[in-house]
Amino acid sequence: MAATSEAILQVCGAGASISHMGLCPKKSNFLISTNHGLGYRSKKGSDCIQIKSSRHKCYSMISAFNVHDRFRSLSCKCSQINSVTDVVSEKRDPLLKGDLSTNGNGAFSSTLQVGGINSIEDEAWELLRASMVYYCGHPVGTIAANDPSDSSILNYDQVFIRDFIPSGIAFLLKGEYDIVRNFILHTLQLQSWEKTMDCHSPGQGLMPASFKVRTVPLDGDDSATEDILDPDFGEAAIGRVAPVDSGLWWIILLRAYGKCSGDLSVQERVDVQTGIKMILKLCLADGFDMFPTLLVTDGSCMIDRRMGIHGHPLEIQALFYSALLSAREMLTREDASADLMTALNNRLVALSFHVREYYWIDMRKLNEIYRYKTEEYSYDAVNKFNIYPDQIPPWLVEWMTNKGGYMIGNLQPAHMDFRFFSLGNLWSIVSSLATNDQSHAILDLYEAKWADLVGDMPLKICYPALEGQEWRIITGSDPKNTPWSYHNGGSWPTLLWQLTVASIKMNRPEIAENAVKVAERRISKDKWPEYYDTKKARFIGKQARLFQTWSIAGYVVAKQLLANPDAAKILVNVEDSELVNAFSCMISANPRRKRSRKGINQSFII
Ligand code: GLC
Repeated sequence: MAATSEAILQVCGAGASISHMGLCPKKSNFLISTNHGLGYRSKKGSDCIQIKSSRHKCYSMISAFNVHDRFRSLSCKCSQINSVTDVVSEKRDPLLKGDLSTNGNGAFSSTLQVGGINSIEDEAWELLRASMVYYCGHPVGTIAANDPSDSSILNYDQVFIRDFIPSGIAFLLKGEYDIVRNFILHTLQLQSWEKTMDCHSPGQGLMPASFKVRTVPLDGDDSATEDILDPDFGEAAIGRVAPVDSGLWWIILLRAYGKCSGDLSVQERVDVQTGIKMILKLCLADGFDMFPTLLVTDGSCMIDRRMGIHGHPLEIQALFYSALLSAREMLTREDASADLMTALNNRLVALSFHVREYYWIDMRKLNEIYRYKTEEYSYDAVNKFNIYPDQIPPWLVEWMTNKGGYMIGNLQPAHMDFRFFSLGNLWSIVSSLATNDQSHAILDLYEAKWADLVGDMPLKICYPALEGQEWRIITGSDPKNTPWSYHNGGSWPTLLWQLTVASIKMNRPEIAENAVKVAERRISKDKWPEYYDTKKARFIGKQARLFQTWSIAGYVVAKQLLANPDAAKILVNVEDSELVNAFSCMISANPRRKRSRKGINQSFII
């Protein structure tokens, strides 16, 4: 054991010293569990070992389990899979005579006997449980897809942070809190990982896109194994995309955990508070930006491939806003946090003003843009971003309804991305980034454009698809993102849960109920695909995984919330009256309404 404990203190520290880069061609750190607790270990066979730099301080500070748990994790090393199988088997519904077996990835695969299943919801629960991933005998997440027929796994055998959110919510609403608690604490440990990509280290607050549990032979002892958590921060992801949304979702889930379980001890822990602050610092760091929106690269969220959403995509802004509000609720008041709180409050006001004012379009606003004057210099410009009216796409002129409206996908100098993105719009409702009227108008649009946005399977990820030359240039001729497929106008059942939270918040649950009914017509028969193709979502996606966990969990959460709408509160951010005041001061000072810089009587410094 001495050798192992020594290894814990050593890490392939490419980020610490550039002179070591040559020794470290492949970044491969692991988090391991031993009787000394949780720590880092360099990958077996790697010749790049270096004492941890001071950047790993949180190593000693962050510890997810107490001493008792640590010893348990040691003693369960080889027998854990059996014992967990036993536990799961015991808990299973006797009507379900499926066979549970490990699939080699720490997850369980399930062979279901359909005859014994009562309903789609029961089946979904069975599949959701079968997707659980264990680390040292503790459930820590759910595998992205559990498709036995698929030979090319890629990284679908990993626990994705964003994919786990609906799973986590489903478990919370079922009163099964452990898996969510473990997920929160383990991913927190991964946050402070030494991460590099070609000699560059991203910010320390970055959360991984995904992680994998590997069970490997214990060094120097062939008869024993150890579990290893192996994260991917984007350095191995297709396109090397940074998962900006992971940390934001982590904060949102942390708040939901506290609200649902009543256990505030997790969010109050010093390491968790540090984790929240690290994420916030990364998001609130000064840069070259003129806008309060978060500037990100393409593919930094659910759409994790090139789709022309670099810049200030709506999805990230809505999650950012929600995470800021959630963090504000959870941060403990202490002197050290005062500056952070001020920065956070200022950003909240500026962000909500910016998105509500400049991302919003409806008939009236579209007509205003249609008549925009351009090349306006000065503080009094109406067309601040110099949008040329010719940018209004012909499809939108036809598509825009008299009643309803939505937030556009992105806003940059001289560029409005007029595509409709579901997640960004729905989370704008949930987080109260959209005003009450705007929120209703977005739902009005869903109703008016049901065939386009719901069709045969909820929900369109974005509308419309990029086609022809636009597809070639914007996606880089991506064969996975062909028109009306995958991220490019495909339909994703997982989005059902976000639609449900949004429609419950606005007291219009019937919208989600109808969408759930549409999904129920085929989602189980189709084996819970990841996404659907074609304009009306009639085909299972060309390269869609089957038994995709977040399709399953998204459906489960929608059903749980419709049965108990009050529970949606754990996800909703209620509009803050101070923000409303500050916002109305800004509105009255806006040149579109009043061409003057005077009169800003704000309570926050913008
Ligand atoms: C795809 C999706 C991404 C998801 C991952 C795992 O890459 O675009 O959002 O997290 O699959 O399901």
